[in-house]
Amino acid sequence: MTNEDIERVVLTEDEIQSKVAELGKRISEDYGDREPLLVGVLKGAFVLMADLSRRITVPVEFDFMAVASYGSSTRTSGVVRIIKDLDLEITDRHVVIVEDIVDSGLTLSYLMKNLRGRRPLSLEVCALMTKPEALRVPIDVRYHGFAIPPAFVVGYGLDWQQRYRNLPYVGTLKPHLYEGDGD
Ligand code: PRP
Repeated sequence: MTNEDIERVVLTEDEIQSKVAELGKRISEDYGDREPLLVGVLKGAFVLMADLSRRITVPVEFDFMAVASYGSSTRTSGVVRIIKDLDLEITDRHVVIVEDIVDSGLTLSYLMKNLRGRRPLSLEVCALMTKPEALRVPIDVRYHGFAIPPAFVVGYGLDWQQRYRNLPYVGTLKPHLYEGDGD
């Protein structure tokens, strides 16, 4: 049953789960015994990390980063502050950044530059959703789920004022709930 605050479902639970299974299978095939390190970007990625990791059938390790934007918004500044850094060294590791959504691409662009500086053997991105019309910097997402329209969405890790992350689908909120505010 759909949450009463949801206006329209953009990605159903079934669509998400079959895509996540497909992405997990591809990662398993591509990495084999090269033991990738999955790096989840908190908070949004925790749901995808949990589901994706259980669809990966090869040895894999996990770490998390938490970031926040400087100033009012990442979307305008593109400058990201690291709130929680990785626990593990990634030098000579095969790293896969796991993101729920790439919006402007500025967060990921910053993260990739930062992580590349630590000299991983490889660095790839798995993102469940991208918003191509909102993208401001080119991002190469090797493991890509869905391109969605630039509307504000919640669910499957995505929040509105920290709520709705636990919805198993992705949808738009009824507009009266956020009244024109962005995030
Ligand atoms: C979301 C998402 C990405 C970022 C993408 O996180 O998880 O990290 O925004 O936006 P961008 O492509 O425009 O940079 P958010 O800042 O909402 O934090 P959260 O995951 O803690 O909700």
